[in-house]
Amino acid sequence: MSQLIVSGMRPTGKLHLGHYLGVIQNWVELQHKYNSYFFVADWHALTTKYDKTEELKNDVLNVVMDWLASGIDPKISTIYVQSHIPEIAELNVYLGMVTPQNWVERDPTLKDMAKILRTKEGANSQISYGLMGYPVLMSADIMMMNADAVPVGVDQVAHIEITRDIARRFNNIYNTEFFKEPQPILNHCSLICGLDGNKMGKSFHNDIKISDTAEETAKKVMTAITDRSRMRKTDLGHPDECEVAFKYWKIFGTEEQIAKVRQECEKGERGCADCKRELGALINEKLAEIREKRLYYENHIDEVKDILAEGDKKARIRAGEVLSQVRDIVKMY
Ligand code: TRP
Repeated sequence: MSQLIVSGMRPTGKLHLGHYLGVIQNWVELQHKYNSYFFVADWHALTTKYDKTEELKNDVLNVVMDWLASGIDPKISTIYVQSHIPEIAELNVYLGMVTPQNWVERDPTLKDMAKILRTKEGANSQISYGLMGYPVLMSADIMMMNADAVPVGVDQVAHIEITRDIARRFNNIYNTEFFKEPQPILNHCSLICGLDGNKMGKSFHNDIKISDTAEETAKKVMTAITDRSRMRKTDLGHPDECEVAFKYWKIFGTEEQIAKVRQECEKGERGCADCKRELGALINEKLAEIREKRLYYENHIDEVKDILAEGDKKARIRAGEVLSQVRDIVKMY
């Protein structure tokens, strides 16, 4: 039987190319090798945005539409919403009991999140009990499916370590070997920077969305930073110092295209504006099919909801099996 993987994403709304290249493409490949569970972590969204929930429902749907458009196949993968699986909340209680407080306090990812929260909301912002519980809840997500492995980015590896620790501790305390210690599967990704050269992110306004139109994309690509030392087209260019545009070429272009761009740029035969026009067209070509599919789902939102309902059902079956064993192991009445 094939191994089981589970991974989740917080509902941040429409996803960008960083998500697509860094996370979703990996999932699309992995789903053919593993029994795959992918979910929208809407409870995790509440850990920092419990007071900003107006868009939460839409954000969940937008994330799922981006997944489906990108090739996550609901016929082979189980796609669900975290908060539709109440079993996770119950498992979270049991895991919370066996997790020493200093394990969560030490979590480096949580420390970063707390820091960001403080800079955004001011020094007085409180870190809630729910946010402190982030790593335990994430462990519950993973252990709910008793997963073998979890595809994640490097930034999440510390969380998987805590999950392994919690699984081991649970097994020790209750003298069982029930829970697996899940392995991280590191996303191999072409890290794409934002149009301004910084990390691509929604809040930095430097991203290209999967769901952007071809026109929007072309316009955005024209703002990409290039080789700052270059004033005129005839100035000899330095592709390796081109801060964004050439990096995008290396992600989206073929070997030949990349070589051609390099040569023409170095010889001063390729202006940055022309170069970015061509680049925008190339990116649009690569995304055309995905965007077409996304439009289809936008116009068939009931189909998306049906897919989620089906996924919720499948996920709850697995979760129910695991939970009944856990209740037995803990000796609940
Ligand atoms: N913490 C993850 C992130 O911010 C999202 C997440 C929640 C997750 N639960 C998970 C990822 C379980 C993998 C497995 O990206």
